[in-house]
Amino acid sequence: MNAFQRMNTALLIDESKKIFKVSRRAFVDPDILEAERAQIFDKCWLYLGHSSELAKPGDFVTRSVGGRNILFARDGKGDLKAMLNTCPHRGAQVCREKHGSAKSFQCFYHGWVFGLDGTLRSQPGESSYAEDFKARSTSSMQQVARFESYRDLNFICFDKGVESLSDYLGPVKEYLDVICDQAEMGMTIVGGTQEYSMRANWKLLTENSIDGYHALTTHATYLDYLKSATGALAQVAFEGSARDLGKGHAVLEYKAPWGRPVAQWIPSWGEEGKRELSRLYDGLVKRFGKERADRIATFNRNLFIFPNLVINDIMAVTVRTYYPAAPDFMNISAWALAPKEETEWARKYRLFNFLEFLGPGGFATPDDVAALEAVQQGFAAWRDVQWNDLSRGMARNDDQLDTDEGHLRVFWRRWSELMETAA
Ligand code: FES
Ligand SMILES: [Fe+2]
Repeated sequence: MNAFQRMNTALLIDESKKIFKVSRRAFVDPDILEAERAQIFDKCWLYLGHSSELAKPGDFVTRSVGGRNILFARDGKGDLKAMLNTCPHRGAQVCREKHGSAKSFQCFYHGWVFGLDGTLRSQPGESSYAEDFKARSTSSMQQVARFESYRDLNFICFDKGVESLSDYLGPVKEYLDVICDQAEMGMTIVGGTQEYSMRANWKLLTENSIDGYHALTTHATYLDYLKSATGALAQVAFEGSARDLGKGHAVLEYKAPWGRPVAQWIPSWGEEGKRELSRLYDGLVKRFGKERADRIATFNRNLFIFPNLVINDIMAVTVRTYYPAAPDFMNISAWALAPKEETEWARKYRLFNFLEFLGPGGFATPDDVAALEAVQQGFAAWRDVQWNDLSRGMARNDDQLDTDEGHLRVFWRRWSELMETAA
């Protein structure tokens, strides 16, 4: 029996009374986190990185994914490799740099040298080892059990028997296509990794990322700023829908009044911007026809991929993933994604939008951090006030609006399903 099973009820659901509640214990209990590591992070596909981060053979990044340090590298043949960054000899982290370009990786402890694909090349005092030692698979760095990609987004899974990434993503792929199709020559990560942390449970960021309900209050400053800045808004009203994409994945797709560098114009972008955006829009129409071009250009998307990947295609595109370090602490990594071929003009405004709203110092993230940390502090009373209420939208029969909490419920149902499986 794991901690989740001992907890009796994590979710309190009563369809007839339109009630959906989540136990606050799920956000504070260290045993729940242990069970999450085993039931979720050890079994689901997790985002590792974008192919553009490793432009040429020898390029590498190291990052922590699902609690393990991973060495993500492009080998001599140009193939991408995802390796557990631990020396097969006595365990040291082989590559200790965050990113760079290498010809080989040398473990600094006893000096074993590995190729770009992790194969053991040489070790000091080779003659003292058995003749076939180097050829043994256990002498080389170990590859992650599963490594697959979709449209340059690379994922790993520590469970050998997991379904294919393509099956895992299912209808998510349609949305990844819409996002990636804004580029003709592929998407690229711009600049490096943004890293920050919050004193809050990791699931609070999952909720927050697909929670349209909080925008008007938490982000009032940003919305006021947009309203007061001349020409910062297009004549477009907020409207859209949310969709359950299965397996805990969900998406919000909606129109919004902010400018999109692909391709929704706002007056403050002037005549130059108008020309540039109509050129981009015409290109989309040519490639995909009007209907799909409109969807790519004028709709925003907040895409959530279970359990901890968020791709927001809004006034710029951000890719964001986050891991628990403790029940009340998470580390977040984020990247800006943009079309490779983008002009200087579009890139400038995209990055401006990114800084202004999406980045760690923008108008949104600090507000969200403050909100989530306040929530976690509120959970100190979890034994007395035991439930979070997520029933907004349950009383409605029509199609969900983007402020519904239905897609949060999608996450929680999947979470609970996976946690229920005996460890
Ligand atoms: S631990 Fe790496 S060479 Fe010994
Ligand atoms: Fe927010």
